Amino acid sequence: MQAIFQHGSSSHTWASTTVNITKLRVLALFVVTYFTCGWLWFPVFLLSLVGYIFWWGMGTGWLHLFYPDKQIGPFRFQLDDIMSDERLVRLTDVSNSPLIFKDRTKYAMYGIPKHDKRKIPFLAFVEGYRTSEIDLKPGSDLQDELRKAQNWSYNALTLSYLKFVVLGYLPDVIRHTRKQDEDQVKEHYNRGNDFFNWFLGPTMCYTSGYYLSTSDSVETAQYQKIRLVLNKTKAYRTFPDGRKLRHLDLGTGWGTLVCYASKHFNTDSMGISLSEEGIKYCQENARGLGVFERTRFEVADYRDMGLKAQSHIGAGNKYDVITCLEMAEHVGIKNFSSFLSLVMDNLADDGYFYLQIAGLRENPKMSDLAWGVFMNRYIFPGADASMPLGWVIHQLELAGFEVHSVETIGVHYADTIKSWYNYWLSNKTAAIAKYGEQMYRTWELFLAWSSITPEQGSCTCYQIVSNKNLNAFDRRKDYFAEGKRNYDFDGKSAAI
Ligand SMILES: C[S@@+](CC[C@H](N)C(=O)[O-])C[C@H]1O[C@@H](n2cnc3c(N)ncnc32)[C@H](O)[C@@H]1O
Repeated sequence: MQAIFQHGSSSHTWASTTVNITKLRVLALFVVTYFTCGWLWFPVFLLSLVGYIFWWGMGTGWLHLFYPDKQIGPFRFQLDDIMSDERLVRLTDVSNSPLIFKDRTKYAMYGIPKHDKRKIPFLAFVEGYRTSEIDLKPGSDLQDELRKAQNWSYNALTLSYLKFVVLGYLPDVIRHTRKQDEDQVKEHYNRGNDFFNWFLGPTMCYTSGYYLSTSDSVETAQYQKIRLVLNKTKAYRTFPDGRKLRHLDLGTGWGTLVCYASKHFNTDSMGISLSEEGIKYCQENARGLGVFERTRFEVADYRDMGLKAQSHIGAGNKYDVITCLEMAEHVGIKNFSSFLSLVMDNLADDGYFYLQIAGLRENPKMSDLAWGVFMNRYIFPGADASMPLGWVIHQLELAGFEVHSVETIGVHYADTIKSWYNYWLSNKTAAIAKYGEQMYRTWELFLAWSSITPEQGSCTCYQIVSNKNLNAFDRRKDYFAEGKRNYDFDGKSAAI
């Protein structure tokens, strides 16, 4: 196989030449627009530049324009370090490419018809794989091939994703209305409980588990996570008047946390979620576990948590614990501070707020953004508040919370999703029969790709415990009980 650009000194020459040619082109653009467009030169220059970047991206990977790592306004663009030893190398003929094209002419813009194994933009592969236009060689495993994706793909925005970002993602982020939440969330979570069961397995937890050992099953990890959440929020507290601990779970999913809290911590728990299908499952599950009378599940938007609280724990009362496991991403950037104010209003002064939230890293690399855009387009539309930790903490502090502890659980997420991926593969026939090939392959991609992203730091997940930042909050009692450190994990059996 012939490679035009090789590792070593010639790659350096190539990079320098590329950057210099790029600079010359941008300079030429500037000179032409400045001297020919009169006072319109600046907008014309900017528009041409955007067009140029896009065109460049289609052919070669537009990040090279910004090489090396560069700060542009508030953004810092970086090349993927996974490609660090070959990031200047562009092979026109990739040996061992696992890709099989159904109709090679559809990939003419990437030179595929002429060079069968030429690299293509990773997002073009994603679309091709979803729609069965691209397949993998027989015997290949998608997850394994994605780990080696830099061998056969490069990072660049494709036309279809650019369209989605401009016409779909950005307007959604700016508007983020209640109606939008309802439409997007219901479309996803009302799909059918069997669909979710085929990858989540019996616990039906759609959030990261918590592993104490690499040999833990995903079920053990989920119950350990739940127990940890309840310990981190001190849900074992007792009250002088003998009342139960009041607990609200926002975005409860299939209700596993609420049932566990009621059964093992004797709490007075309510779970709310936008999905009717999910809530039906919660109630049946509670009945099966013998906690139906002691738990409460309601179809409700988080915006109505105050109203729901009144009917659950009575007007004037507040929750001792509010948990929110991977629902706040759906709240959106626009509504995040009003969401936190609502949590603040409904939490007791000595209560705890547990927020488990996934987010992209600060200074995302191009492949991180590609994953984020794919997730937003096909898996969690509207879940745009997947932000870096600093942003989330700042929002919590602005809302009046004191952040008590933060734990990064990205590797736990990688292992959790790896198990989901295996469950999904094992239910392939049933999933295709009911939901079709495209849905099956979209989820296969989501699970295979998302078990890699937290492992390499593209995204991660945080367990954040906060309390109200009041002078009167008893910080000493919070930290020590009977003179001893309060341990977050009690090591007791985590089985439900
Ligand atoms: C990723 S799932 C997490 C489920 C659950 N917390 C768990 O640990 O498995 C997100 C949940 O948030 C709910 N949700 C999303 N937007 C919501 C909203 N605006 N109000 C209430 N629930 C919402 C969905 O219905 C879904 O149950």
